[in-house]
Amino acid sequence: MNEFDDKEFTLTDKDFEQIRSFVKQHTGITLSEAKKTMVYGRLSRRLRKLRIPSFKEYLAIVARDDSDELVNFINAITTNLTSFFREEHHFDYLKNTIIPQLRLKKNSDQKIRIWSAGCSTGEEPYSIAIALHESLPDIEEWDIKILATDLDTNVLAHGENGIYDIERISALSPERKQAWFLKGRGAQQGSVKIDSRLRNLITFKQLNLMQQWPMKGPFDFMFCRNVVIYFDKDTQKILYNKYANLIVDDGCLFLGHSESMYKVCDRFASLGHTIYKKIC
Ligand SMILES: C[S@@+](CC[C@H](N)C(=O)[O-])C[C@H]1O[C@@H](n2cnc3c(N)ncnc32)[C@H](O)[C@@H]1O
Repeated sequence: MNEFDDKEFTLTDKDFEQIRSFVKQHTGITLSEAKKTMVYGRLSRRLRKLRIPSFKEYLAIVARDDSDELVNFINAITTNLTSFFREEHHFDYLKNTIIPQLRLKKNSDQKIRIWSAGCSTGEEPYSIAIALHESLPDIEEWDIKILATDLDTNVLAHGENGIYDIERISALSPERKQAWFLKGRGAQQGSVKIDSRLRNLITFKQLNLMQQWPMKGPFDFMFCRNVVIYFDKDTQKILYNKYANLIVDDGCLFLGHSESMYKVCDRFASLGHTIYKKIC
């Protein structure tokens, strides 16, 4: 008997192995044994919703060639934790170092291209957009595009919508709240909507990092934070190399606080605080 035998749905070791293998195949995410309870909790909701009595039957549906359920399966598995100005020192570096450098470098061609890969519900690309507005008073004269991509279609829809619970911005300064968020009224009370000046800088697109990438770049800098932590080292190596191919020389890549390129990729130099500069 295993610890999942007396639960609402039986999750056998074989089912869990199959889940791990699907997840790895479709997302690159490596699920350890320790994630079993989390996986049970997240997928049980799908079984309940679809009134399917067992994981075995559910997995048979996910595995069909024409399965509509695969997208829900993936959306249920991904971890989407994020916040506005998460790891704020990255945005300080952007404002105090990268933007002044780009201003000097781009005096004739005022074009900046940015990629937020694994953008979740959009707080990361919107924070980048705020930092750009705060450091470029003449932003109207610049041609700026932020590409925000994620595998999970639910989080992308949230980001595109640009509406958040008001608590999501509770840690921001009064100036930032006032400048960039519109308070909802009536049915939207308790929510805030992103100002269109930020929304207009961003294009949200679904992109699975494990599949073909349509964009050619180059990007002046990119964020891929708290995403590769779920991938094994070989997958990280492939991704970092592909990022290096799309980032301009000397361009920066921002990683999450517990991610590192040490012994994984030597095409970037560490600038500290999980900020990396492309060197070759
Ligand atoms: C923890 S969130 C990070 C959000 C944001 N970058 C941050 O640091 O606040 C990780 C995101 O990576 C996305 N993700 C996971 N695997 C992916 C893949 N293979 N392709 C694209 N996005 C993926 C998830 O859907 C999730 O939204």
